[in-house]
Amino acid sequence: MMGYTDELADVYDLIFHSRGKDYGAEAAEVVRQVRRRYPEASSLLDVGCGTGNHLEHFRAVFDHVEGVEPALPMRRQAEKKFPSLRIHAADMRDFRLDRDFDAVSCMFGPIGYMADEAQLRAAVGCMAAHLVPGGVLVLDPWWFPENFIDGYVMAEAARDESRSVARVSHSVRNGTSMCITARYLVGNAAGITEFCMRDTLSLFREDQYADAFTAAGLTVEYLPSVATDRGLFVGTRGGPAPRERAT
Ligand SMILES: C[S@@+](CC[C@H](N)C(=O)[O-])C[C@H]1O[C@@H](n2cnc3c(N)ncnc32)[C@H](O)[C@@H]1O
Repeated sequence: MMGYTDELADVYDLIFHSRGKDYGAEAAEVVRQVRRRYPEASSLLDVGCGTGNHLEHFRAVFDHVEGVEPALPMRRQAEKKFPSLRIHAADMRDFRLDRDFDAVSCMFGPIGYMADEAQLRAAVGCMAAHLVPGGVLVLDPWWFPENFIDGYVMAEAARDESRSVARVSHSVRNGTSMCITARYLVGNAAGITEFCMRDTLSLFREDQYADAFTAAGLTVEYLPSVATDRGLFVGTRGGPAPRERAT
């Protein structure tokens, strides 16, 4: 599956932290949206958690957090950083954990890996099925068709005490999806290695996301200007409001 190899997982945090991606601010906005709808929320599941950069912040706020991540190299990085956290090796289209959560989040791209609308609905349905009544699903969508820039090129460089990394990416539209190619150069004392990552992500429309939430039994709001460049979808599972539940 996908291009999340050991080589990429090794430099993932270096690249995205150095780009200035503010995982702390994104996580804080997710928490705000959850708490606005479910003030007592105390558990969260982060789906497609990657190397655990949002989990790092969620675990400081919620009593109980877990992750789902199918790519072993990414999961290993998360487990190395947070050995006490449960990170499940599972696919968001079809998973069943042994508990439900007050909140479920899915940030920075995992949903784009759903190949079509049926998979989008399966994934949102699976995440919704892990919410307690009144629980909140927060989803960072991938680009909408009208926001995607065909032929987009990005170049960046990052370094830490032992490595310098350069990444150049190029994205093109292919029907209702985009293909991204990213080439990496990694230099250290032993020399320079290079690798390439290619991926295809779906460009779902806003109404397709909203319909997937509704089909999963969630009320849905799209907040275009919060947390990420793509905004957030926030859904609430029906049922007794948390405060009204029998104690
Ligand atoms: C760009 S990374 C984002 C990781 C993390 N959420 C972050 O913000 O850094 C996309 C992640 O989606 C995961 N992913 C791809 N397909 C998935 C699927 N079917 N189910 C769950 N996660 C998936 C990848 O393995 C990868 O870790």
